[in-house]
Amino acid sequence: VNPQDHIEGTFNVTYRHRVMFERQALLEGTALADVLAPRSGGTAETLVVLDQGLVEQTPTLPALVESWFTRHSTIATLAAAPLVMPGSEDAKQGLSPVVDPVIEAIANAGLCRHSRVLAIGGGAMLDAVGLASSLAHRGIGLVRMPTTTLAQGDAGIGVKNGVNSPHRSGGKNLVGTFAVPLGVINDSTFLLTLDDTHWRGGLAESIKVALVKDSALLDTVETHAQALTNRDLDCMERVLMETAKLHLRHITDGGDPFEMELARPLDFGHWAAHELETQSNWAISHGEAVAAGMLIDLRVGEAMSLTAVGTADRIETLLRQLGFLQRPHTAAQSNNLLVGLEHFRQHLGGKLTLCMIQEPGVSIDVHEVDMKVAEAAIDTVLGGLPH
Ligand SMILES: NC(=O)c1ccc[n+]([C@@H]2O[C@H](COP(=O)([O-])OP(=O)(O)OC[C@H]3O[C@@H](n4cnc5c(N)ncnc54)[C@H](O)[C@@H]3O)[C@@H](O)[C@H]2O)c1
Ligand SMILES: [Zn+2]
Repeated sequence: VNPQDHIEGTFNVTYRHRVMFERQALLEGTALADVLAPRSGGTAETLVVLDQGLVEQTPTLPALVESWFTRHSTIATLAAAPLVMPGSEDAKQGLSPVVDPVIEAIANAGLCRHSRVLAIGGGAMLDAVGLASSLAHRGIGLVRMPTTTLAQGDAGIGVKNGVNSPHRSGGKNLVGTFAVPLGVINDSTFLLTLDDTHWRGGLAESIKVALVKDSALLDTVETHAQALTNRDLDCMERVLMETAKLHLRHITDGGDPFEMELARPLDFGHWAAHELETQSNWAISHGEAVAAGMLIDLRVGEAMSLTAVGTADRIETLLRQLGFLQRPHTAAQSNNLLVGLEHFRQHLGGKLTLCMIQEPGVSIDVHEVDMKVAEAAIDTVLGGLPH
């Protein structure tokens, strides 16, 4: 073959990524009609998937959804009765709990590429439904209504989804795709029924993104720590809005929306967190694990003279004030946890790249970690958790 015979071209695709904040979105809002409405007119055939844990707390939800569609029948119609699927990490144990049944429901309802999937639930269920909708017909538009603090500030904002592989350790989020949702609607009234663990969960990601990108958000969380612990909804909503904004700006303006580069600033603290979640067999929630994982990396950073002295103590105080670091951890050992560094490197490909904090709001990438230092940091942090 002649080199002149090679052909190539380049193309760009423009995405719009919308996150809307609206209380009582299923009762009196306009955001849902806005995102579901088909661009070319007509009505959007919609499959609605609900998180079972959420429905247990709000049994009227399926009826609320049905009544919304009855009132908006010129814009969107229900393709089938709302499907209730398992929430929590149970949703992400391979393809069988959620991905397969949702694809089957999409096929049974006769949905096409112009139809929509509306997922209402926590980050885990959104990840699994997002994967199913990105695979069926090579991608059906997904609308997310995240219902936990972690999902409203972080998981629901991301442009990726995925499930865990049951086949090997380190399989957290192994099977996934990148897919930009049609829209995300954050309705803070859903947060009222969360248990305390998941109420505070999203604040771990708020502190994470503040450490990486914006020290002002860290100040806000510190100033309002008591109100946040007392479940002040207005205060939580403001913090989550700021968290979501930083996350969204990272995706739209950060130059690497589909994570082609090695650097993954929003995964600060996550190598240890993913290992803690997996090794505890998901008894430790994502938020709890991220809290411990960040503290480990801050202690590593201080020991390597990368992080301003005192940062780790400051964050530990805040995390404890918010109620993190108080749940018993399981038998995770530092040498077990260290394998997380290798899993993280494999997941990213290429050489190990970790985001470390220089001072709140300022981060730096490092490619090497002294294992002895990491082990000592893990021991210090895990040693401070109840056994
Ligand atoms: N895709 C991404 O970019 C991304 C980013 C961060 C985290 N994640 C993933 O998100 C998951 C964690 O999400 P999470 O913290 O939302 O937890 P979760 O989805 O496990 O939900 C926690 C529990 O709360 C229940 N629930 C959901 N909404 C409720 C409500 N309003 N009231 C009462 N109960 C409710 C669920 O059924 C579940 O039992 C992890 O799997 C993590 O990997 C994904
Ligand atoms: Zn996270």
